[in-house]
Amino acid sequence: MIAAAAAREAVSAATDALAAAGCDTPRLDAELLIADAMGVDRGALIADPEQGVPGAAARLIGERVRRRVMREPVAYILGTKGFRHIDLAVDSRVLVPRPETELLVEVALELPEGASVHEVGTGSGAVALALLSERPDLKVSASDASPAAVEVARANARRLRLPVELSVERGVPEGDFELVLANLPYVSEAEWRGLQPEIVRHEPRDALVAGPDGLETITELVEGSPAGTQLALEHAPHQADAVRELLRGAETLRDLAGRERVTLGAVP
Ligand SMILES: C[S@@+](CC[C@H](N)C(=O)[O-])C[C@H]1O[C@@H](n2cnc3c(N)ncnc32)[C@H](O)[C@@H]1O
Repeated sequence: MIAAAAAREAVSAATDALAAAGCDTPRLDAELLIADAMGVDRGALIADPEQGVPGAAARLIGERVRRRVMREPVAYILGTKGFRHIDLAVDSRVLVPRPETELLVEVALELPEGASVHEVGTGSGAVALALLSERPDLKVSASDASPAAVEVARANARRLRLPVELSVERGVPEGDFELVLANLPYVSEAEWRGLQPEIVRHEPRDALVAGPDGLETITELVEGSPAGTQLALEHAPHQADAVRELLRGAETLRDLAGRERVTLGAVP
């Protein structure tokens, strides 16, 4: 019988292939893909690099490395992404949730007991579901213009047993909300062309691109919402001045990297 290759060799070969393909974190990606294929966590893989890779896992690793070489995001290949305290199922119908978006959840954690909050552009459901998991007293609803994204969010809500009300909708639906959260598309068409292959080739363009200056969707949301609606809007740091101009009593919060990331204010 041929002995199974050691995990160390699989990690080394995958790391070389991913580095040659231009991936930013080839060793980390290789470890994540290989550990998952072997059914162990990454710590166990690192702790015992001499363990053998069974044949079925080796085939899965080969297929996963080929996908990653095409610069498909690790989250789509594994089909899951951690966000705050929950794990979300993700695929190419939705944006991979980004760590800076956790700031939107933090803003809503400040709401009084029992408040109603709506998330526009929920994608995988990350913000709304993380929020409800941490504040089960809140009434949380969410919507997205993309029916495919709402399907993903609904499946996540069901699996996580979190009763977020979901709908397919552009902009803010009718309702009485203490706060509306939104991480809408905010990349300009010119910026889009220069983004990494993970984004341009694999993530949904409509989830990211918002016209020539990246402000089209945010502006449409503000202009389409009833006066007085309290909004918390994620945006690119260089858009902070423009977003403040759209709102009354605007205040901008910085992300962990110190960049202006979320602006709060009322629709004038
Ligand atoms: C940047 S993604 C964010 C997804 C998710 N909130 C997250 O942070 O991972 C933007 C989402 O907004 C949706 N979207 C775009 N324009 C919209 C609009 N006018 N109204 C509602 N949703 C919109 C897209 O379909 C996409 O799912």
